[in-house]
Amino acid sequence: MSSEIPPIKPKVTPIYQTSVFTFDDLTELEVYFEQPSQRYMYARYSNPNANELAEEVNKLEQGSGAVVTSSGMSAIFTAILIFCKAGDHVLCAEEIYGGSAVLLNQELNRIGITVTYVPTSAIYDLAVYVQPNTKVLLAETMSNPLLRVFDVARLATACQQVKINLIIDNTFASPVITQPLKLGADVVIHSVTKYLAGHSDVTAGVVVARGAESLKRAQQIMMYYGLNLSPFESWLAVRGLKTLRLRIKQHSSNALAIAQFLAAHPKVSRVYYPGLVTHPDYELAKQQGNGLFGGMLSFAIADEEEVVNTLMRSLPSIPFAPSLAGVSTSISHPVRTSHRALSPEKRAELGITMGVIRLSVGVEEPEELLSELSIALDAI
Ligand SMILES: Cc1ncc(COP(=O)(O)O)c(C=O)c1O
Repeated sequence: MSSEIPPIKPKVTPIYQTSVFTFDDLTELEVYFEQPSQRYMYARYSNPNANELAEEVNKLEQGSGAVVTSSGMSAIFTAILIFCKAGDHVLCAEEIYGGSAVLLNQELNRIGITVTYVPTSAIYDLAVYVQPNTKVLLAETMSNPLLRVFDVARLATACQQVKINLIIDNTFASPVITQPLKLGADVVIHSVTKYLAGHSDVTAGVVVARGAESLKRAQQIMMYYGLNLSPFESWLAVRGLKTLRLRIKQHSSNALAIAQFLAAHPKVSRVYYPGLVTHPDYELAKQQGNGLFGGMLSFAIADEEEVVNTLMRSLPSIPFAPSLAGVSTSISHPVRTSHRALSPEKRAELGITMGVIRLSVGVEEPEELLSELSIALDAI
């Protein structure tokens, strides 16, 4: 028997909780610079856990590579900076996560990047919105919070016609439902905080690029602005990602059952869920989403603060938590949380009123959720 100690072979990648990696000498350092993608020097540049997460998401989105970042916001920031510098112009879908609008309106404009919002009705014909300095269109596969679904292939064609790049925020759909790069998008981003990690215990983002140039630029931006993700959060996200497919199926079937229940409820004036045949994007959502419609829905009750509070207080196991896409169901209130920074006029124009409740449907037994919602609606 050999006296050599066999190598340790963990089934799961360990957490490399180190900020720096060591070298024996200058010769070994030079090997790093020859092949930086396969070796490690400094954790902000790359670390094994972040790389594993990037590779796994890239496989799901089928890009040329991915870069993980500290949050969904830093992923959006990175994606825009791939294409834009001071003096450039961004087109943005009007129905977008409030934080993306704040980033564009309050921060990127300070460094000379301007924005024009495109109404949903005009999103496939960009000619009147485009300027000589327009570089990108930013849109979501499914909009937050009213669940409009965008035809990514048509968006890509519209962008090609005016020679701009398409960035898709695929957070609500996840790659199980839609793979925007295959439909012609140039870059996909996610708030990994949501479905990809899936357990409400990670804040992270990812940028997936179709082309090698975009990928290289994203890596530089992440590295030089210091937008990197920690090894532990990368590890947690990799762990969550392993059940993504299972979770999305259960989120989707639960959400469909709840949407149907809410649509028939006398206290609910409107339900926003693309899996309902009454939804304006139902056919598109069905075809683009492989028959899955996701776990997010919104519904409208009376536009009165007290009614909203009563509903929230009558849901003992469904917390009001201003995030989404965890395994357990939660509700949120777009007017007071995600879309708080929009002007009241803008919110009214978009249809985001006091009575709009956003429901992030988890993977519990659907009967439990239906029973709790039914009791809470009776209380209002
Ligand atoms: C669609 C969408 N994109 C991006 C973000 C930002 O992600 P994060 O909170 O991880 O920075 C959010 C957050 O809610 C979101 O809903």
